[in-house]
Amino acid sequence: MDKKEFLKIIKQRRVVRKFDRNKGVPKDALDRMLEAAIWAPLSIYHPQEWKFIVLEGQKRDNAVEIITQDHTILKYIRFMYEQTSIGHGEKWKKMAEYFGHSLGDAPVLIVCLVRFDPHIHQFGHNLGAAWCASENLMLQAETEGLNTGIISMASPRIQHELIDLLEFNSDEWAVAYIINVGYGLKIPPPVEREKEGVIIFQN
Ligand SMILES: Cc1cc2nc3c(=O)[nH]c(=O)nc-3n(C[C@H](O)[C@H](O)[C@H](O)COP(=O)(O)O)c2cc1C
Repeated sequence: MDKKEFLKIIKQRRVVRKFDRNKGVPKDALDRMLEAAIWAPLSIYHPQEWKFIVLEGQKRDNAVEIITQDHTILKYIRFMYEQTSIGHGEKWKKMAEYFGHSLGDAPVLIVCLVRFDPHIHQFGHNLGAAWCASENLMLQAETEGLNTGIISMASPRIQHELIDLLEFNSDEWAVAYIINVGYGLKIPPPVEREKEGVIIFQN
């Protein structure tokens, strides 16, 4: 594989927040994305203490109804649009309003659950491993010509409600993030990355 080609794929992946509801995700592509997730680095203390719950159809709609009650979803977007060069003024409002009730309309939603651990270090490993898995999945989606978004949520009450819907025990599991999968209708421009002061060489 061309080394520059892989870097290009990494750089062109965007978090998308508006999808084509009527264009489903091909099953073989979804399978490869999930396989890519499984091959992410894992913590040897508690290998793979995360689960991906893949939601489509009615179950997806029910989950969206629960998730969109969490106002931190809108707060996140508002902050982003005010703090980055993507857009200012009225633009974020329209975008947030749409996202706040549809969650971007992606036909597939993947809820990532991580197992609680009273030890912060271990819980950090569970979360870290889950986030590694998300990146693998998102990059495989990019190579499939699909788009993804990722959503974090803060309300414990709404997290419990969602975990109940998924028929898991909310004393044992927490929501790490939710991934949207589909064909994007609007691909946002990249948020600039800093290199200086972030990458430091020492010898
Ligand atoms: C820890 C974490 C939490 C995030 N939470 C959200 C979120 O709640 N909603 C959202 O739209 N994007 C979320 N994102 C995605 C970022 O906003 C996105 O990656 C960033 O704006 C850069 O855009 P890009 O990934 O398209 O380059 C999250 C990303 C990370 C790493």
